Amino acid sequence: MTILKTGQLIKHTDGKTEKDQYVMRLISIEELGDVVALEKYVYDLLPNKQVLCMDSYEEMLDDMKRGAKVIGVFNEAKDLIAYRYIGFPGNNPKNLGNDINLPEQELPKVAHLETTVVHPDYRGNSLQSLTLQKAIPMVQDLGYSHLLCTVSPQNIYSLYNIMKNGLRVKALKKKYGKSEDGSDGLWRFILHRNLKPRAVRKTSALFSVPVADIEPQRELIDQGFVGLWLSREAGLLNYVLFEDNLAFQALSKSLLL
Ligand SMILES: CC(C)(COP(=O)(O)OP(=O)(O)OC[C@H]1O[C@@H](n2cnc3c(N)ncnc32)[C@H](O)[C@@H]1OP(=O)(O)O)[C@@H](O)C(=O)NCCC(=O)NCCS
Repeated sequence: MTILKTGQLIKHTDGKTEKDQYVMRLISIEELGDVVALEKYVYDLLPNKQVLCMDSYEEMLDDMKRGAKVIGVFNEAKDLIAYRYIGFPGNNPKNLGNDINLPEQELPKVAHLETTVVHPDYRGNSLQSLTLQKAIPMVQDLGYSHLLCTVSPQNIYSLYNIMKNGLRVKALKKKYGKSEDGSDGLWRFILHRNLKPRAVRKTSALFSVPVADIEPQRELIDQGFVGLWLSREAGLLNYVLFEDNLAFQALSKSLLL
């Protein structure tokens, strides 16, 4: 059992705070029952159920058999208090690379950040970020070079943590619907980070949009803008244009002429 990280935590219960210790490590298939139980516990307490799409035990089991990883965080009493689920969609049509028009040859290199939950008593210890920071070298060692995930525009805490770790908003669309055109789905940002080292790129133009305003953000994304950072307190998502995108737009225009 490889320990990924250990450290100290602050636990909040009934208005009281106390210190606790944690161990972060990969979860085995035999422990999956505890993962699903924590997911259900967190979901049942959520004031807004739209922010979390539940994964069933069977879905996660099948996925783990195909190589998916689950990073778990355990307290001193050895109870699971947080987890991060990472999937590798390969050629599955659900690959989020399709939602951001990633070139076809890049799709097998996509890793998905699936669900993450933190027990309410342990929120505020940056466990969402800490597990993500351990997931990145892990997926790179496995040969993956694109991280993608979905986040609800109503989930400001998660969006902030994901963007703080370098993922950028590349699309905004309805996901997880049952109808053929997906119109009965839930609004989700699609966020992406290319893990390959890249040269620093210049940006131009800046628009700050309230994170809950769907249509103006969809228009900006259609024009090539990328959501780069979130001002959490103001609830504003900041969109920029990268200069190579500008060059691409100019080129496609001149080709059209
Ligand atoms: C999103 C989530 C994983 C973040 O947990 P976390 O890593 O503990 O969050 P952070 O440490 O970044 O918290 C930063 C601050 O926001 C607060 N916060 C975090 N999540 C919160 C929530 N859901 N509701 C209210 N406040 C929250 C923390 O208490 C902390 O406040 P402080 O700065 O005053 O101490 C957690 O809120 C959660 O489990 N939510 C439900 C499941 C979910 O939405 N998962 C993501 C989609 S898959």
